[in-house]
Amino acid sequence: MTAAAQTCPIGKGFDFADPELLERGMPVAEFAQLRKTAPVWWNEQPTLTPIFGDDGFWVISKHRDIRDISKDSGLWSTNAKGAIVRLPEYMEPEQLEFTKALLINHDPPEHTRLRKIVSRIFTPRAVHALEDTLTETARQVVEEALAKGSGNFVDDVAIHLPLKAIMDLLGVPEADRGRIHQLVDSIINSDDPDQPFDPITANAELMAYAYQMAEDRRKNPTDDIVTTLVQAGEDGEAMTEIEFGFFVILLITAGNETTRNATSHGMNAFFDNPDQWELFKADRPTATAVDEVLRWSTPVHAFQRTATADTQVGGVDIAAGQRVGLFYSSANYDEEVFDDPFSFTITRDPNPHLAFGGNGAHFCIGANLARMELGLIFNAIADVMPDISRVSEIKRVRSGWLNGVKGLGVDYGCPVGKS
Ligand code: HEM
Repeated sequence: MTAAAQTCPIGKGFDFADPELLERGMPVAEFAQLRKTAPVWWNEQPTLTPIFGDDGFWVISKHRDIRDISKDSGLWSTNAKGAIVRLPEYMEPEQLEFTKALLINHDPPEHTRLRKIVSRIFTPRAVHALEDTLTETARQVVEEALAKGSGNFVDDVAIHLPLKAIMDLLGVPEADRGRIHQLVDSIINSDDPDQPFDPITANAELMAYAYQMAEDRRKNPTDDIVTTLVQAGEDGEAMTEIEFGFFVILLITAGNETTRNATSHGMNAFFDNPDQWELFKADRPTATAVDEVLRWSTPVHAFQRTATADTQVGGVDIAAGQRVGLFYSSANYDEEVFDDPFSFTITRDPNPHLAFGGNGAHFCIGANLARMELGLIFNAIADVMPDISRVSEIKRVRSGWLNGVKGLGVDYGCPVGKS
């Protein structure tokens, strides 16, 4: 271990994936200490991790190290122990095995095969095709919120567009969407007590729903996206019903809460930085503003990898079988990469944030869709309710790996042109 690691002032027992900690807020000061004194730091979790068969993981806090690890999926596996650094308390080892069917928990060559099939639905053309409907939805969502006068921004605004995008992408009928929404929330926020269903039941119901969709389309092919995935493409490859079921679960969980949280944190950042909101409304630097919202919010706090062989990161020995947590929420404030990282600057360019991962094989497949949704919603807010203001502080989700928001009280202001 390096000398730096021994002099780190963060106390033994501090846990960067503790849901209670994240419910209070990001450990910004502690990350800054790590980046300076112990960029690769041992995070003990002796009583929590029998499911992983170990007693902790390495916290990787530097941008450079996270990128290097993300790009080497031969040395760094997601399949060995999954991608989630802190599993919910209800999970048993068999359930960890079960999650290995998710795309993100595959290593090459299986990952390469599945990713190729899934890429068929995320082509720039397919994403662009959603733009008109999503533009309309964004405006509708914002107008409905404005008509209420005030409310919880998360429920009234942030939730809707990501869900609509995924449901449209998969062609889920309108009548089923409300139920699916509740199931999704119960799965992803399973560490949080305010959820309608227990996560195991919710997972099973969603899986059965997706399986049924795949089976239907295999028997009765149409020109929709589900058919595209379950029918063999030019390369002869197709997804099985089970693979499709897991893909739907991943898509719904990965694409929904993340974009929602970026929207809520982004709005909150605009409240904290009114000059940036004025700038956005006047000049609409949408592309750079969206990337700054992504950097600032870092909706995924961390994903993990497991070493497949003995190795070193930043001079620290890491043994085969040990886990490393890739803390995007630290990397995105790395002083060596970002000028003035604690300033929310919507014209920041370049902005090589790692909110979508470290540019490796698992890099977020929905990144372009998420960017489009964020651009649409902030433009709709600026057009329709430019005077939006905060009336209560954000309420955070209890989670060990997501930077979630469940409450943000706002006053939507007066309709444009009225006072
Ligand atoms: C602000 C929004 C989003 C954020 C911050 C985000 C973040 C991430 C991150 C950090 C990863 C893992 C990268 C890695 O391990 O190297 C990931 C993977 C993934 N994301 Fe996203 N995501 C977002 C939106 C979406 C959307 C809208 C979709 C789809 C509708 C989506 C689908 C996926 C999938 C399927 C994967 C797994 C890819 C693979 O393993 O090959 N994400 N995302």
